Amino acid sequence: MSSILLREETLDPSFVPPALPGREKEFAALLQRYRGAVAKGLSHPQLLTGGIGSGKTALARRLGEDLRRISRAGTPPLQTIYINCWRRANDRSILLELLRSVNVSLPDRGYSLTEMLDVFEQGLRRTPGPRLIVLDEVSALVRQGTKLVYFFSRAREIALGSVSLLLIAPEDVLPLLDGASRSSFGLTHRLHLDPYDEAALLQILLARATIALRPGSFSAETLAPLARAAAPRGDARFAMELLANAARAAENDGRNEIGAEDVRQARSSLVPGESELRLDELPPQALLALLAVARTLRGPRSGATTERIRQTYGTLVEEFGATAVSRVTFWRTIRQLEREGLIELEPASVGRPARVTLSDVPVSHLEMLLESRLERAKPKSRSSVRTA
Ligand SMILES: Nc1ncnc2c1ncn2[C@@H]1O[C@H](COP(=O)(O)OP(=O)(O)OP(=O)(O)O)[C@@H](O)[C@H]1O
Ligand SMILES: [Mg+2]
Repeated sequence: MSSILLREETLDPSFVPPALPGREKEFAALLQRYRGAVAKGLSHPQLLTGGIGSGKTALARRLGEDLRRISRAGTPPLQTIYINCWRRANDRSILLELLRSVNVSLPDRGYSLTEMLDVFEQGLRRTPGPRLIVLDEVSALVRQGTKLVYFFSRAREIALGSVSLLLIAPEDVLPLLDGASRSSFGLTHRLHLDPYDEAALLQILLARATIALRPGSFSAETLAPLARAAAPRGDARFAMELLANAARAAENDGRNEIGAEDVRQARSSLVPGESELRLDELPPQALLALLAVARTLRGPRSGATTERIRQTYGTLVEEFGATAVSRVTFWRTIRQLEREGLIELEPASVGRPARVTLSDVPVSHLEMLLESRLERAKPKSRSSVRTA
C-alpha cells in the first residue's frame, strides 16, 4: 500500500489542476474574454505563448472545463475540442480529429480539404452550441502554412456561430500566419506566460502535494529545495517531476514522509553523472572532507555545522589511515568543495554558525562513490600486500 503517493495520477501532466496558483490573473483574463464572446455569440481567437512548463496546457484545459460549467441555463454548454498538433502537423489529420469530435468519421483518403471542412460544418450544425477549439503545440502546423486558422478565426463570417480558437505555442507564431488570419488576433488576443518564479513554484508544488500526497508526508520546508531547483527554468513541469521523484524515493525506502535525502535524490537523478565526474578530479584530502559531509548528513538531517563535519572527519582519518589536516586547511577544503558545486554553504548569521548542505547528490550514493575511491587510494597494510 502506498504510504505517501495516495493519488499518484494527479502528478501526471495530463491531470487538470483545480486551481492555478501564480496564474490567477491570466486565467481570469482569458475566462472573461471567452465568456464575453460566447455570451454575444461571437468568436474569440486567442494566442497563448510561454516557455516549457509555464502552464499553457494546464490553463487551456482549466479554461475549457470552467467555460463548460458556467454556461447559462437554457443555453447549450460550451464544448472544448482539444487537439495537440505536435504529431499531426498537417490540416488533414487535424480535420480528421475535429470530425471525430462531432461524431463523424471519414476515411483518411478520398476527400479534399474543402469537402472535409463542409462535413465538419454540417457536424457542428447538428449539435449547435459554442465551441472552443484548442490547437496546442501549433508551431509546426503554422509553419506548414495551415489554412485552418484562417477558417476558424473567421468562423462568424462564415456563419458557424461561436467557434473560438485558442492557439498555443512556445513563441509568437502570428508573423508566420497570412495577413488575413493575423488581423483577427488583435493586441488583446495575445497572452504571454512568463516563467514562474521560485515563490510561485513553491505554491504550485504545495497545492499539488496536497492533492496527491498523504497529509503530513511533506511540508513547505521539504518542498522548498524543489522549487529552488526548478526556479532557474521557471518550469512547473520540472518541479512536478521532482516532486514525484522525491515522493517515490521516500516511499521506496519505506518511509511515510519526504525527507531532505529524497529531495536530493530527486534532484540528482536529473543531472546524473555530472557530480561523479567532478569527484575524479578531487585530491584525496577533499574526498575525505566530502565523505565527512555525506556521513554527517546521513539520516534526516539536511544541514550541519562545519564543526560537526570536522568531528566526523576525525573518525574518517583513522578509518582510512590518512593524516588529519589543520582546522584552517579543512575550512579551505570545504570552500573548495563549495566552489566545485558539490556542497552548499549557508553563511553564518546572528546566533547561528555557517551550515553545510549537499547540493545535488544523494548521500547514500555519494558515500558509495567516495568510499570506493578512498579505498583505492588507501595505503595498503603490510600484511595484505602480496609479494610476487
Ligand atoms: N499554475 C499552475 N498551478 C498548478 N499546476 C501547474 C501550474 N502551471 C503548470 N502546472 C503543472 O505543471 C505541469 C506543466 O504544465 P503545462 O503542461 O501546462 O506546461 P506547458 O506550458 O504546456 O509546457 P509545454 O510547453 O512543455 O507543453 C503540469 O503538470 C501542470 O498541471
Ligand atoms: Mg503543453
